Amino acid sequence: MLFDTHAHYDDPRFDEDRDALLASLPAGGVTLVVNAGSSEASSALALEIADRYPFVYATVGVHPHDAKEMDEGSVARLEDMLRHPKAVAVGEIGLDYHYDNSPRDVQKQRFYDQLALAQSVKKPVVIHERDATADTLDIVRAFPDVTGVFHCFSGSWETAKWLLARGWHLSFGGVITFKNARRACEVVARMPIDRLLLETDCPYLTPEPFRGRRNSSLYLYRVAERAAELMGLSYEQIAEKTMENGKRLFGIA
Ligand code: NI
Repeated sequence: MLFDTHAHYDDPRFDEDRDALLASLPAGGVTLVVNAGSSEASSALALEIADRYPFVYATVGVHPHDAKEMDEGSVARLEDMLRHPKAVAVGEIGLDYHYDNSPRDVQKQRFYDQLALAQSVKKPVVIHERDATADTLDIVRAFPDVTGVFHCFSGSWETAKWLLARGWHLSFGGVITFKNARRACEVVARMPIDRLLLETDCPYLTPEPFRGRRNSSLYLYRVAERAAELMGLSYEQIAEKTMENGKRLFGIA
């Protein structure tokens, strides 16, 4: 049994077969899914999907790519959505200086606003960070009571240690099955298993040997296999611990 802690089933790439695919997940070994919201509209869709499937939960938040779409009413609308019983975290939020789809000062302000929201509603956060480590850690440092998970963690072991010491979880997906993923693999090999989460980030980041296809939670077993190899543990131990970690972080009974 695996827990896919970060998926995007609201993505249009699932329009053709979303319901059939979601319905097939428990039999395919994936018994819990967190669908990450990435804009106000996608967060609303994530909650709708969570309403239809007992094993699907949702995060509510605005991705740094969409930070420029937020206005004065956004935080209040997000807060309202976070009252939904299946909204388990604020996310995905953060900074992305690789694509710079929103201006950096806007990204920083909206990231700050949403961390403040997480603090006030007492929920964990799901962080997206790309090529923006120093600024991300600076902003995170301003909220010592807020923790959660860095999704698709791609930072150094130094950054990982800093986050682990402050109670954060680190999540990994298909990237650790790629040949050129030395840094992520090094972090998995060295980190404590009680902070590890698994994810697909589907429809993106399909693991080997399925690269090129659309990703789905049905391929998550490849990430679990690779994590087991890197940590020197059995597949069952990885599955069991990451399930337990995810439930604890997201407050799922
Ligand atoms: Ni994502």
